[in-house]
Amino acid sequence: MFITFEGLDFSGKSTQATLLVEKLKQQHCTVHFIREPGGTAISEKIRAILLDKKHLEMSDTAEILLFSASRSQLVSQVIKPALLRGEVVVCDRYCDSTTAYQGYGRELDLDAVRAINKLATGGTMPDLTVLVDIPIDEIERRKTRAGLTFDRMESSGRAFYERVRDGYHQLVLAEPERWVRVSGLLSIDEIQKEICSKVENKIKRFATPEGPSEGMPSAEGLLRRMPSVKGTKSSRVH
Ligand code: ADP
Ligand code: TYD
Repeated sequence: MFITFEGLDFSGKSTQATLLVEKLKQQHCTVHFIREPGGTAISEKIRAILLDKKHLEMSDTAEILLFSASRSQLVSQVIKPALLRGEVVVCDRYCDSTTAYQGYGRELDLDAVRAINKLATGGTMPDLTVLVDIPIDEIERRKTRAGLTFDRMESSGRAFYERVRDGYHQLVLAEPERWVRVSGLLSIDEIQKEICSKVENKIKRFATPEGPSEGMPSAEGLLRRMPSVKGTKSSRVH
Protein backbone atom coordinates (compact mmCIF):
# COMPACT_ATOMS: atom_id res chain seq x y z
CA MET A 1 0.00 0.00 0.00
CA PHE A 2 1.20 3.46 -0.91
CA ILE A 3 0.12 6.42 1.27
CA THR A 4 1.26 9.99 0.66
CA PHE A 5 0.96 13.17 2.76
CA GLU A 6 0.51 16.57 1.18
CA GLY A 7 0.06 20.15 2.37
CA LEU A 8 1.76 23.51 2.61
CA ASP A 9 5.07 23.92 4.42
CA PHE A 10 4.40 23.98 8.21
CA SER A 11 0.93 22.43 7.80
CA GLY A 12 1.93 19.63 10.20
CA LYS A 13 1.97 16.83 7.60
CA SER A 14 5.39 15.44 8.63
CA THR A 15 4.18 15.20 12.24
CA GLN A 16 1.11 13.28 11.08
CA ALA A 17 3.01 11.03 8.67
CA THR A 18 5.38 10.10 11.49
CA LEU A 19 2.48 9.24 13.82
CA LEU A 20 0.78 7.08 11.17
CA VAL A 21 4.03 5.23 10.49
CA GLU A 22 4.41 4.48 14.22
CA LYS A 23 0.86 3.17 14.33
CA LEU A 24 1.34 0.92 11.28
CA LYS A 25 4.58 -0.44 12.75
CA GLN A 26 2.77 -1.26 16.00
CA GLN A 27 0.40 -3.30 13.82
CA HIS A 28 3.42 -5.24 12.50
CA CYS A 29 3.40 -3.77 8.99
CA THR A 30 6.71 -3.40 7.14
CA VAL A 31 6.74 0.34 6.50
CA HIS A 32 9.11 2.51 4.47
CA PHE A 33 8.95 6.17 5.48
CA ILE A 34 10.37 8.58 2.94
CA ARG A 35 10.26 12.34 2.40
CA GLU A 36 10.46 14.17 -0.92
CA PRO A 37 12.62 15.49 -2.39
CA GLY A 38 15.13 12.92 -1.15
CA GLY A 39 15.20 9.28 -0.08
CA THR A 40 18.13 8.02 -2.19
CA ALA A 41 21.75 9.22 -2.40
CA ILE A 42 21.07 10.86 -5.79
CA SER A 43 17.74 12.35 -4.67
CA GLU A 44 19.30 13.85 -1.50
CA LYS A 45 21.92 15.63 -3.65
CA ILE A 46 19.15 17.01 -5.86
CA ARG A 47 17.28 18.12 -2.69
CA ALA A 48 20.31 20.15 -1.58
CA ILE A 49 20.40 21.92 -4.97
CA LEU A 50 16.65 22.62 -4.89
CA LEU A 51 16.47 24.06 -1.37
CA ASP A 52 19.74 26.04 -1.38
CA LYS A 53 18.66 29.65 -0.91
CA LYS A 54 21.70 30.83 -2.88
CA HIS A 55 20.12 29.34 -6.04
CA LEU A 56 17.69 32.21 -6.61
CA GLU A 57 18.42 32.18 -10.34
CA MET A 58 16.85 28.70 -10.76
CA SER A 59 14.32 28.72 -13.60
CA ASP A 60 10.84 27.24 -13.04
CA THR A 61 11.54 24.59 -15.69
CA ALA A 62 14.83 23.58 -14.08
CA GLU A 63 12.97 23.40 -10.75
CA ILE A 64 10.24 21.02 -11.95
CA LEU A 65 12.74 18.81 -13.76
CA LEU A 66 14.95 18.55 -10.67
CA PHE A 67 12.01 17.62 -8.39
CA SER A 68 10.99 15.05 -10.99
CA ALA A 69 14.49 13.63 -11.45
CA SER A 70 14.71 13.14 -7.69
CA ARG A 71 11.30 11.38 -7.72
CA SER A 72 12.12 9.16 -10.69
CA GLN A 73 15.17 7.78 -8.86
CA LEU A 74 13.16 7.29 -5.66
CA VAL A 75 10.38 5.42 -7.45
CA SER A 76 12.68 3.02 -9.28
CA GLN A 77 15.11 2.47 -6.42
CA VAL A 78 12.81 2.39 -3.37
CA ILE A 79 9.05 2.82 -3.86
CA LYS A 80 8.30 0.39 -6.66
CA PRO A 81 10.45 -2.49 -5.29
CA ALA A 82 8.87 -2.09 -1.82
CA LEU A 83 5.31 -2.10 -3.22
CA LEU A 84 6.06 -5.16 -5.31
CA ARG A 85 7.25 -6.94 -2.14
CA GLY A 86 3.85 -6.14 -0.58
CA GLU A 87 5.23 -3.60 1.87
CA VAL A 88 3.75 -0.27 2.93
CA VAL A 89 5.29 2.99 1.69
CA VAL A 90 4.47 6.27 3.41
CA CYS A 91 5.82 9.30 1.57
CA ASP A 92 5.91 12.88 2.87
CA ARG A 93 5.08 14.61 -0.47
CA TYR A 94 4.90 13.06 -3.94
CA CYS A 95 3.88 14.17 -7.44
CA ASP A 96 0.81 16.08 -6.14
CA SER A 97 3.33 18.53 -4.65
CA THR A 98 4.64 19.13 -8.16
CA THR A 99 1.15 19.78 -9.49
CA ALA A 100 0.32 22.12 -6.59
CA TYR A 101 3.67 23.97 -6.29
CA GLN A 102 5.02 24.00 -9.86
CA GLY A 103 1.68 23.73 -11.72
CA TYR A 104 -0.54 26.02 -9.65
CA GLY A 105 2.11 27.92 -7.64
CA ARG A 106 4.60 28.66 -10.44
CA GLU A 107 1.79 28.60 -13.01
CA LEU A 108 3.48 26.15 -15.38
CA ASP A 109 1.29 24.53 -18.04
CA LEU A 110 -0.82 21.90 -16.26
CA ASP A 111 -0.78 19.44 -19.18
CA ALA A 112 3.03 19.62 -19.26
CA VAL A 113 3.11 19.08 -15.47
CA ARG A 114 0.86 16.01 -15.82
CA ALA A 115 3.13 14.59 -18.55
CA ILE A 116 6.27 15.17 -16.47
CA ASN A 117 4.63 13.56 -13.41
CA LYS A 118 3.66 10.52 -15.47
CA LEU A 119 7.20 10.15 -16.76
CA ALA A 120 8.78 10.58 -13.31
CA THR A 121 6.44 8.19 -11.48
CA GLY A 122 6.14 5.64 -14.30
CA GLY A 123 2.43 5.55 -13.34
CA THR A 124 3.06 4.46 -9.73
CA MET A 125 0.36 6.40 -7.89
CA PRO A 126 -0.66 6.47 -4.22
CA ASP A 127 -3.62 4.39 -3.06
CA LEU A 128 -4.36 7.15 -0.55
CA THR A 129 -3.29 10.77 -0.14
CA VAL A 130 -3.83 12.81 3.02
CA LEU A 131 -4.08 16.59 2.62
CA VAL A 132 -3.36 18.46 5.85
CA ASP A 133 -5.10 21.69 4.92
CA ILE A 134 -4.29 24.95 6.63
CA PRO A 135 -4.90 28.66 5.92
CA ILE A 136 -1.92 30.83 4.93
CA ASP A 137 -2.28 33.04 8.05
CA GLU A 138 -1.61 30.04 10.28
CA ILE A 139 1.42 29.09 8.17
CA GLU A 140 2.79 32.61 8.66
CA ARG A 141 2.23 32.35 12.43
CA ARG A 142 4.03 28.98 12.63
CA LYS A 143 6.95 30.22 10.50
CA THR A 144 7.42 33.22 12.79
CA ARG A 145 7.06 31.10 15.95
CA ALA A 146 9.64 28.59 14.70
CA GLY A 147 12.11 31.47 14.11
CA LEU A 148 13.87 29.47 11.39
CA THR A 149 15.64 30.81 8.33
CA PHE A 150 13.72 29.83 5.24
CA ASP A 151 14.95 27.66 2.38
CA ARG A 152 14.59 28.72 -1.27
CA MET A 153 11.07 27.29 -1.66
CA GLU A 154 9.85 28.69 1.68
CA SER A 155 10.94 32.17 0.60
CA SER A 156 8.19 32.24 -2.06
CA GLY A 157 5.54 34.89 -1.29
CA ARG A 158 2.02 34.71 0.11
CA ALA A 159 0.31 34.85 -3.33
CA PHE A 160 2.33 31.79 -4.35
CA TYR A 161 1.11 29.84 -1.30
CA GLU A 162 -2.51 30.91 -1.97
CA ARG A 163 -2.23 29.42 -5.47
CA VAL A 164 -0.62 26.23 -4.11
CA ARG A 165 -3.43 25.78 -1.58
CA ASP A 166 -6.04 26.33 -4.29
CA GLY A 167 -4.18 23.75 -6.40
CA TYR A 168 -4.50 21.16 -3.63
CA HIS A 169 -8.24 21.87 -3.37
CA GLN A 170 -8.60 21.32 -7.13
CA LEU A 171 -6.76 18.01 -6.86
CA VAL A 172 -9.06 16.79 -4.06
CA LEU A 173 -12.12 17.75 -6.11
CA ALA A 174 -10.80 15.97 -9.19
CA GLU A 175 -10.06 12.67 -7.44
CA PRO A 176 -12.08 12.52 -4.18
CA GLU A 177 -11.77 8.74 -3.87
CA ARG A 178 -7.98 8.96 -3.47
CA TRP A 179 -7.83 11.97 -1.13
CA VAL A 180 -8.54 12.42 2.56
CA ARG A 181 -8.65 16.10 3.63
CA VAL A 182 -8.15 17.00 7.28
CA SER A 183 -8.03 20.42 8.90
CA GLY A 184 -4.51 21.29 10.08
CA LEU A 185 -6.02 23.72 12.61
CA LEU A 186 -7.08 20.92 14.96
CA SER A 187 -4.73 19.64 17.67
CA ILE A 188 -2.05 17.09 16.69
CA ASP A 189 -4.00 14.41 18.56
CA GLU A 190 -7.34 15.26 16.94
CA ILE A 191 -5.81 15.24 13.46
CA GLN A 192 -4.13 11.91 14.11
CA LYS A 193 -7.41 10.32 15.22
CA GLU A 194 -9.21 11.68 12.16
CA ILE A 195 -6.50 10.43 9.80
CA CYS A 196 -6.47 6.97 11.40
CA SER A 197 -10.21 6.57 11.14
CA LYS A 198 -10.32 7.85 7.55
CA VAL A 199 -7.39 5.69 6.51
CA GLU A 200 -9.01 2.63 8.09
CA ASN A 201 -12.28 3.36 6.27
CA LYS A 202 -10.49 3.68 2.96
CA ILE A 203 -8.60 0.45 3.55
CA LYS A 204 -11.85 -1.34 4.35
CA ARG A 205 -13.42 -0.06 1.15
CA PHE A 206 -10.45 -1.38 -0.85
CA ALA A 207 -10.91 -4.71 0.88
CA THR A 208 -14.65 -5.18 0.36
CA PRO A 209 -14.71 -6.91 -3.08
CA GLU A 210 -13.18 -10.06 -1.59
CA GLY A 211 -14.74 -9.08 1.69
CA PRO A 212 -13.72 -9.87 5.22
CA SER A 213 -16.09 -12.76 5.92
CA GLU A 214 -15.89 -12.84 9.69
CA GLY A 215 -15.03 -10.13 12.18
CA MET A 216 -12.38 -7.47 11.63
CA PRO A 217 -9.30 -8.56 9.69
CA SER A 218 -5.87 -7.34 10.78
CA ALA A 219 -4.42 -4.11 9.37
CA GLU A 220 -1.72 -6.17 7.66
CA GLY A 221 -4.35 -8.38 6.06
CA LEU A 222 -6.33 -5.39 4.81
CA LEU A 223 -3.25 -3.60 3.54
CA ARG A 224 -2.24 -6.65 1.53
CA ARG A 225 -5.50 -6.44 -0.42
CA MET A 226 -4.73 -2.93 -1.71
CA PRO A 227 -4.24 -2.80 -5.50
CA SER A 228 -0.65 -1.58 -5.34
CA VAL A 229 0.30 -4.34 -2.92
CA LYS A 230 -0.51 -7.23 -5.19
CA GLY A 231 2.20 -6.29 -7.64
CA THR A 232 0.80 -8.26 -10.53
CA LYS A 233 -1.93 -6.73 -12.67
CA SER A 234 -2.00 -3.79 -10.25
CA SER A 235 -3.77 -0.67 -11.44
CA ARG A 236 -1.25 1.43 -9.59
CA VAL A 237 2.23 -0.04 -10.05
CA HIS A 238 3.32 -0.11 -13.67
P1 ADP B 1 5.35 20.16 7.71
O1 ADP B 1 5.91 18.80 7.52
O2 ADP B 1 4.01 20.31 7.07
O3 ADP B 1 6.31 21.25 7.29
P2 ADP B 1 5.65 19.79 10.58
O4 ADP B 1 4.96 18.53 10.93
O5 ADP B 1 7.15 19.77 10.50
O6 ADP B 1 5.04 20.40 9.23
O7 ADP B 1 5.16 20.91 11.61
C1 ADP B 1 5.50 22.29 11.44
C2 ADP B 1 5.41 23.01 12.78
O8 ADP B 1 4.06 23.08 13.22
C3 ADP B 1 6.18 22.31 13.90
O9 ADP B 1 6.74 23.30 14.72
C4 ADP B 1 5.10 21.52 14.63
O10 ADP B 1 5.42 21.31 15.98
C5 ADP B 1 3.89 22.43 14.48
N1 ADP B 1 2.63 21.68 14.41
C6 ADP B 1 2.40 20.48 13.80
N2 ADP B 1 1.11 20.12 13.91
C7 ADP B 1 0.49 21.10 14.60
C8 ADP B 1 -0.86 21.31 15.04
N3 ADP B 1 -1.83 20.45 14.77
N4 ADP B 1 -1.13 22.43 15.73
C9 ADP B 1 -0.16 23.35 15.99
N5 ADP B 1 1.13 23.21 15.61
C10 ADP B 1 1.46 22.11 14.92
P1 TYD C 1 10.87 20.45 2.95
O1 TYD C 1 11.86 21.09 3.87
O2 TYD C 1 10.91 18.97 2.79
O3 TYD C 1 9.44 20.99 3.34
P2 TYD C 1 8.17 20.34 3.99
O4 TYD C 1 8.54 19.97 5.40
O5 TYD C 1 7.15 21.43 3.92
O6 TYD C 1 7.79 19.17 3.13
O7 TYD C 1 11.03 21.17 1.55
C1 TYD C 1 10.43 20.75 0.40
C2 TYD C 1 9.98 21.99 -0.36
O8 TYD C 1 9.88 21.66 -1.74
C3 TYD C 1 8.61 22.48 0.06
O9 TYD C 1 8.61 23.91 0.05
C4 TYD C 1 7.68 21.99 -1.04
C5 TYD C 1 8.59 21.97 -2.24
N1 TYD C 1 8.25 20.98 -3.27
C6 TYD C 1 7.88 21.42 -4.54
O10 TYD C 1 7.81 22.64 -4.79
N2 TYD C 1 7.61 20.50 -5.51
C7 TYD C 1 7.69 19.15 -5.29
O11 TYD C 1 7.45 18.34 -6.20
C8 TYD C 1 8.09 18.71 -3.97
C9 TYD C 1 8.22 17.25 -3.67
C10 TYD C 1 8.35 19.65 -3.01
